[in-house]
Amino acid sequence: MEKFVIEGKQKLEGEVKISGSKNAALPIIAASIMGEGKTILHNIPNLKDVQTILKILNYMGVKTKFENNVLEIDPSGIYQFTAPYEFVSTMRGSICLLGPLLAKYKTAKFSMPGGCVIGPRPIDLHLKGLKKLGVKIENEEGYIVGKVEDKLKGNIVFLGGNFGSSVLATANVMCAATLAEGETIIEFAACEPEIVDLANFLKKMGAKIYGEGSHLIRIEGVKKLKGTEYTIIPDRIEAGTYILAGYITKSRIKISGVITHHLLSLFDKIEESGLEINFGDTYVETIPKEKWKAIEITTLPYPGFPTDLQAQIMSFLTLADGVSLITEKVFPERFIHVGELNRLGADITLDGSKAIIKGVSSLKGAKVMASDLRASAALVLAALAAEGTTEISRIYHLDRGYEKFEKKLSDLGAKIKRVKEET
Ligand code: UD1
Repeated sequence: MEKFVIEGKQKLEGEVKISGSKNAALPIIAASIMGEGKTILHNIPNLKDVQTILKILNYMGVKTKFENNVLEIDPSGIYQFTAPYEFVSTMRGSICLLGPLLAKYKTAKFSMPGGCVIGPRPIDLHLKGLKKLGVKIENEEGYIVGKVEDKLKGNIVFLGGNFGSSVLATANVMCAATLAEGETIIEFAACEPEIVDLANFLKKMGAKIYGEGSHLIRIEGVKKLKGTEYTIIPDRIEAGTYILAGYITKSRIKISGVITHHLLSLFDKIEESGLEINFGDTYVETIPKEKWKAIEITTLPYPGFPTDLQAQIMSFLTLADGVSLITEKVFPERFIHVGELNRLGADITLDGSKAIIKGVSSLKGAKVMASDLRASAALVLAALAAEGTTEISRIYHLDRGYEKFEKKLSDLGAKIKRVKEET
């Protein structure tokens, strides 16, 4: 295993270019198996999660070629439709293959994804939505087996849960509906930019989709989809992480290749904390200050504050003046990073799905352990701002979602090294 060794308190400077969006790439790669012929995708980030979905596709018989962020997918040789436990357990996002498999090949066998460190992650909405389109679902020894006996049929599908909408359930139902007979209306659809990107991709394949980006998506089923060529949107969560790296280290950096419109909820919170931010359509410049104020944040589905930036902004708030409050409404148990941030000198207490963060004057380097993707990014941010050296173990979590993380940070002037951990 590998760890990061980070010398804190280095000022960052220069420019960092944002990679393609992981959460857009995964469902788009999955949807490409519905096309007749080859699909070419540009700006695909080279990440562990992308490699995992490609492994599943290769296992199923799909041919792929991935070089320099360009991915070619040829689904013509697909001959089996099972996603085994060893893949699904490392990446729950692989569930986004369910809709495309059922729509095009009428069968799918998926290992039940279990819980994970960010809390329980049920798939009831995925199954409810697919059943509404005519999929028969059974459980067999830890596997969900889906079958379409005749044809998928369009329907009205209400996809809301107690927490709001579900991103990948929307992706699955939208994909399945593109090849269903007749019209499907998804009510309480997720509005995330990654859903809009998936809809744009599906439209290039020949799908008829209207209303994406709102809570009501209408899909007119078509008989076939074709392979196509498409460029994935930039990763708003990666961008948000670097923006917060700039502020927490009190540095002026430029984050480029972004769609800034996707980050307005973050900008709003940065401004509320008393900091200024400079941005155009595709770039952001952090404007550093010595001090910032405590604020309140509630994570919500898009366009609200993203749960995927909750841990990173918590690191930033550990150094604010006053007491901040974060309420996690999307994954109420997603606080595994709190204990590790406290090891670095933060003062955070938990009360159910709320974190109370008392600002401290400084963080101090220590040995900490990464626990999930975004929690690990939060530890890197805290380490960049801490006095002394921080060692972060189990960084394989970061490799799931940040392309060339230490290279991009080193290019900005951070002192960060990847070293082998002694066992
Ligand atoms: C996606 C993102 C993930 C992000 C999350 C929320 C990908 C690959 N992953 O995950 O990074 O943190 O959106 O923005 O795109 N839920 C149910 N039943 C379901 C499905 C979800 O109760 O059938 C609940 C979840 O437990 C959670 C909430 O819905 O409380 C939101 O989850 P969801 O939007 O589905 O997350 P994912 O799509 O899995």
